[in-house]
Amino acid sequence: MQLDYNNKDLIFSDIPEDSVKWSAPSNIALVKYWGKFPIQIPANPSISFTLSSSKTETEMSFAPKKGNKSQIDFYLEKELNLKFGEKIGAFFEQIAPIFPFLAQLDFEIYSHNTFPHSAGIASSASGMAALALCICEIENKYFNSFSNEEEFYKKASYVARIGSGSACRSLYGGLVNWGNSVAVEGSSDEFGTMLKTPIHPDFYTYQDKILIVDAGQKKVSSRVGHGLMNTNPFAQQRFQQARENMQIIVKAMQENDQATFIKTVESEALTLHAMMMCSDPYFLLMKPRTLEIIEKLFNFREKTGLDVCFTLDAGPNIHLLYPKRIENEVNEFIEKEVKANWPEFYAIQDEVGKGPMKMHTETKKVVNS
Ligand code: PMV
Repeated sequence: MQLDYNNKDLIFSDIPEDSVKWSAPSNIALVKYWGKFPIQIPANPSISFTLSSSKTETEMSFAPKKGNKSQIDFYLEKELNLKFGEKIGAFFEQIAPIFPFLAQLDFEIYSHNTFPHSAGIASSASGMAALALCICEIENKYFNSFSNEEEFYKKASYVARIGSGSACRSLYGGLVNWGNSVAVEGSSDEFGTMLKTPIHPDFYTYQDKILIVDAGQKKVSSRVGHGLMNTNPFAQQRFQQARENMQIIVKAMQENDQATFIKTVESEALTLHAMMMCSDPYFLLMKPRTLEIIEKLFNFREKTGLDVCFTLDAGPNIHLLYPKRIENEVNEFIEKEVKANWPEFYAIQDEVGKGPMKMHTETKKVVNS
């Protein structure tokens, strides 16, 4: 059934209950986004590896609304989660001008993360990307408003960005940029773009071993962290550095210059943390073990000359990044030097992935039954 997108009155009353389902991966930034302007416009461009197994699967059931107000029941890992439900309600209101049909429906949303909740991995990127895809899928199904796949993903990325900035990079596989950059053709502040410049194939085999130093809640929310850049005395220099690093890192990947890649990735991670250390109020997000592992990694790299480096998000967990060809050596390093004296050692193995996937809906959930 095709509906009239501009006819806000009629639309959904005749449709039966239906559902859509998408899975979207998380991503790990190489050049970091830290600082933004309203509404979710990044202060500098960023680029990330899309991950493969760390993802969110979201099924959205919908039916014409029964009451005056649209009802949203959000289930995380099969449990009703009122807090997230409210956040999604606020997000739906924010995007109502883009998707007028949302206000005519009731929803049951079932979300599942493939990585453990206690893994310290932020699920906002994969979660928002999966949600944006479900919404665009409804639009596609009932309004047939996308003339091709490219438009579909572009809109999903645009919408995911409004929910959570870095989520807009989770709409594509491989390497994804967000934010205007002379290094990336077609780049935009409003949506992510897949890096199309040919880069050395080694980079598509990259592994991400996430060493969970602390599985707890983030000390500083992204929202607060980005906000602190508004008064950070080094903000302008940092934004300029990120713009330059975008060019440096894309060139390094084109030329298979692993040394420059490593230097840029690690400098980006440390600068992100340095920004937090010189914010007002200041935050120290690393733990002693974070530094201990980084020291060990520096020594290992000096000794072996292998192409392995680390990055960090706004927290203490370490992402070890390396091409697949050296996975045995890196595993040996972890076994011998990282796991020792760390009884509660816990790591997640991931790698560069192919991007989101449309899924078959499962047993139909009954909305308003
Ligand atoms: O998308 P947000 O608002 O959660 O911010 C993410 C910020 C970092 O993860 C620290 C960096 C990045 O580019 O992903």
